[in-house]
Amino acid sequence: MKTVLSCIQPTGDMHLGNYFGAVENWVNLQEKYKCFYGVVDYHAMTMPYDVNKLRTNTWDIITNLVAVGVKPENLFIQSLVPEHTELGWILNCFCSYGQLTRMTQFKDKSNQVKDGGKEDFISAGLLDYPVLQTADILIYKADFVPVGKDQEQHLELSRDIAQRFNAQVGKEYFVLPAPLYTETPKIRSTADPIKKMSKSAGEKHYINVFADEATIRRQIKSAVTDSGNTNEGSMAEGVQNLFELIKAAKWLTEHDQLMDHYQAGTLKYMDLKQVTADALVQLTGVFVERRKEINADKKRLKDLVKQSSADIRKRAQQTLTEVKELVGLLNVY
Ligand code: TYM
Repeated sequence: MKTVLSCIQPTGDMHLGNYFGAVENWVNLQEKYKCFYGVVDYHAMTMPYDVNKLRTNTWDIITNLVAVGVKPENLFIQSLVPEHTELGWILNCFCSYGQLTRMTQFKDKSNQVKDGGKEDFISAGLLDYPVLQTADILIYKADFVPVGKDQEQHLELSRDIAQRFNAQVGKEYFVLPAPLYTETPKIRSTADPIKKMSKSAGEKHYINVFADEATIRRQIKSAVTDSGNTNEGSMAEGVQNLFELIKAAKWLTEHDQLMDHYQAGTLKYMDLKQVTADALVQLTGVFVERRKEINADKKRLKDLVKQSSADIRKRAQQTLTEVKELVGLLNVY
């Protein structure tokens, strides 16, 4: 059976970009593959963060993942599997500094830190982040990695590192991981459709999957449809984004009817927004209800995920033992 691995940062809410771009795929792939899904708390330390919130955010995202359909036995918390960071160190030595400085996410996030103003502190962790991400993937010898389009460059780097490692140890040891995308791999911010939907850009730039109905309706109502930058004859990004959201929520008949109107030049943005909001409210309402049920017995879920992390760790330990052997390190436990 092929192996699937993916991860998400515990930086607060899960937004529609996370869900439609990646997590929905996580849920569907569980039937067909051996799946490992991580909440990467070490990654969340690479940007300025609140130490009092990280642990709560970690459990919150676990709850959210289970509420949308991820099985607890497939989940692990990165810091409970310390072999990821150990392999990360080893892989650092198979990755060039120049490659890391060329990562667009590093450039974007460094700029965000600078623009944040308060402290101009760009951590070495932020630069090194894609190597730890590579370790997350390679440690399970994952064949497939379901992610959004924004992770494409990081995935290419993972393949590069795996290839360099294999060449140096003279063996096709690591599998080269391939990304898996959904039909909507890039969801845009409704407030500024030039940008992708993301938590780090600020509150108005994402729609929380667990937001209440009124909030979702308000955010869709105020969505920017035409940012004025669109080329003549092509659909404005904001309009395209609303169509994508309807498609992602699987309201395909309504999607096609609205598209016919668009093509005939009779589409009213008010109608497009109404359908988008209805589709999202219907979908997320189910998740909100499930989360309430899970929250009624939080301890049970915590115990399950601590246990699954311990089980998954055994597989990571096996890989690390083999890697140490291959790179000439001692292997005494
Ligand atoms: P993170 O936590 O930012 O996002 C989690 C997943 O959501 C996808 N995503 C999006 N997809 C479509 N449209 C959007 N606007 C959007 N925003 C986010 C992301 O592509 C991701 O799949 N570096 C990763 C976490 C990570 C990882 C890994 C992923 C760490 N190790 C190993 C895969 C494999 C990140 O920060 O994702």
